[in-house]
Amino acid sequence: MWTTLLLIFLLYFFYTKWRKTTIENIPGPKFAFPLLGHLPIISNEPHKTFLEWKKTYGPIFSVQLGHLRTVVVNDLNLIKEAYAMHEPMGRPPQEVFERACDKKGMVFVSGPVVFEQRKFFLKCLRKFCYEDRGHFESKMQDEISDVLAKFGENDNQPCQMEHTFNIPVLSAVWSFFMGGRLDCSDAKVKYLAQCAANFMSIDGFAANLGYFVPVTAKLFPNFTGSAKMLKGGVDLYDFVDQEWKKGCPSRIPGQPRNYKEAWMDKIESAPTDSSFHPSNNYFPATMGDIMLASIETTPATIDWAVIYLARNPESQKKLQEELDSVVGAIGLITLDDRPELPYMEAVIHEVLRISSLGPFGLLHHTTEEWKFKGFVIPAKTCVIGNLYAVHHDPEIWENPNEFRPERFLDESNNLINTQLIIPFSTGKRFKS
Ligand code: HEM
Repeated sequence: MWTTLLLIFLLYFFYTKWRKTTIENIPGPKFAFPLLGHLPIISNEPHKTFLEWKKTYGPIFSVQLGHLRTVVVNDLNLIKEAYAMHEPMGRPPQEVFERACDKKGMVFVSGPVVFEQRKFFLKCLRKFCYEDRGHFESKMQDEISDVLAKFGENDNQPCQMEHTFNIPVLSAVWSFFMGGRLDCSDAKVKYLAQCAANFMSIDGFAANLGYFVPVTAKLFPNFTGSAKMLKGGVDLYDFVDQEWKKGCPSRIPGQPRNYKEAWMDKIESAPTDSSFHPSNNYFPATMGDIMLASIETTPATIDWAVIYLARNPESQKKLQEELDSVVGAIGLITLDDRPELPYMEAVIHEVLRISSLGPFGLLHHTTEEWKFKGFVIPAKTCVIGNLYAVHHDPEIWENPNEFRPERFLDESNNLINTQLIIPFSTGKRFKS
């Protein structure tokens, strides 16, 4: 056992030594640890370290993160330019993601299939959540009413906010995908939310180690969290698979009411080489990973909104006054109210900016050699657009760590500066 471990270590050591760790002519820290690259020196908050390193190396630099040769882009316009190009549109290989979704789906995979799946997903999103939004909006309002009723029961006592929003968000997303409403008190539903949380729990040095030095995830699955992630992913995809197999007894072909019914229409005419062809069985993976992309990010953003508003009572008061004047104290908000709620829009933008909860978004990967800004970046290089750096750049934002929704409003209460934030990323893998 120890001899095998030593052999693996030595092979990996020489492999990383042999492989170039820096990219010619791209600035970056010179010294890199064998196996780990720059991992030990980027801290638990690499997005902050990279913003700091911008001062030394400029807006584009190269680092080695475990086995991944990486280019970091730290500037709004450069990220927009980079992500509009096709070469950095892949995803780096990641065993846990690939094993959980069987290398299928849309979010964690690369290649033309992503764009086929995205086109369909965005069309459905537009149709069911915007153009014909009556059904979806009323589901959302049901969820909101339930959350408000729970707050009402609380009788002004301090309360635990954790997990307040994830199940209602899961339920709303579920209605877009599958139509029906989930029973939020059902243990199975709570387990589903927990699976998503486990799958997305990539945090801290141990998890970075497992992600960027895959051999450690194999050797120490519990320490690196890869076992928990894999189980969360596999259980979630299985759950979706079971729901898919139940079919849609009340479906009328050609008149889809949700993503699953639209998918059923689509597969009827899909050619064999399409990812929609039934033999490819793409639905569970695609739906599973869209759920992963949505049911952790959205509740976490609402959690941050609650925290920032609690800590900034002046903003909270202004927001309450605006809502009271537009929808009334007991009314429920709809998308049509949006133009009348500029302060609320400003609060949402400021929460997305300051929290930057996916500071790197999802990692990108070059699918072929990429010429960018005079640099020649080889194929299979990881590309990180540092969204946090954009949102906290002192050259763009005055006192970036201060919560101030007013930075998104002019004197006449018109929204401004919204194009300066990219919390949902940008370019070809941006979701809307
Ligand atoms: C506040 C909430 C959210 C934030 C901050 C957020 C942020 C992001 C970011 C930064 C990416 C990476 C894009 C890239 O690779 O460059 C992403 C991808 C994605 N998000 Fe979200 N997201 C949120 C909510 C949602 C929701 C509600 C859905 C679905 C209903 C969703 C679906 C997706 C999908 C499908 C992708 C993958 C796109 C692709 O790989 O081509 N997200 N999101």
